[in-house]
Amino acid sequence: MMVLGALEGTSRRWLITGVAGFIGSNLLEALLRLDQTVVGLDNFATGHRRNLSEVERSVAAERWKRFRFIEGDIRDMQACREAMAGVDVVLHQAALGSVPRSIADPITSNEVNVGGFQRGQWRGFSQHDGGSPRCVGVALHLRSVELDLW
Ligand SMILES: NC(=O)c1ccc[n+]([C@@H]2O[C@H](COP(=O)([O-])OP(=O)(O)OC[C@H]3O[C@@H](n4cnc5c(N)ncnc54)[C@H](O)[C@@H]3O)[C@@H](O)[C@H]2O)c1
Repeated sequence: MMVLGALEGTSRRWLITGVAGFIGSNLLEALLRLDQTVVGLDNFATGHRRNLSEVERSVAAERWKRFRFIEGDIRDMQACREAMAGVDVVLHQAALGSVPRSIADPITSNEVNVGGFQRGQWRGFSQHDGGSPRCVGVALHLRSVELDLW
């Protein structure tokens, strides 16, 4: 509740990686309802365009205009730089789930799940661009954000 209260009347710019996934699209809806500005990055590896369409249908048109989607891969430095421009907070949800998948193709799972986050690229980009976004880890939800933001 602290987070929701703090966000009311304050507009931050958020990046949600994995925005077309289950958690990412729910975060998107929650943030747009709070009149926040959101950039989403996803390559549809496991996410769905219909998740974004459902959010579009569920929020007012004026709020949907505050969302910009970038189809791209978190392993692509250029896509990450573009997505990070001017961002205050990163909600990093892009990942490849499934233990069987990680056994069948450990290299890809490692590159996405470990490389995409552990290289510290999100913090690195923020410093590079002179801003000070807060990096919020994988699979956190709005109530957890207060730990990092306030
Ligand atoms: N859903 C849960 O109950 C749950 C519980 C605990 C932890 N988690 C973790 O939370 C995270 C998100 O979970 P989810 O349920 O939303 O998963 P999800 O598969 O629905 O969403 C992940 C999103 O990341 C995107 N993605 C994958 N690789 C990408 C890449 N290289 N570049 C850009 N986008 C990429 C996918 O397309 C998808 O939209 C995962 O790390 C998951 O393990 C989820």
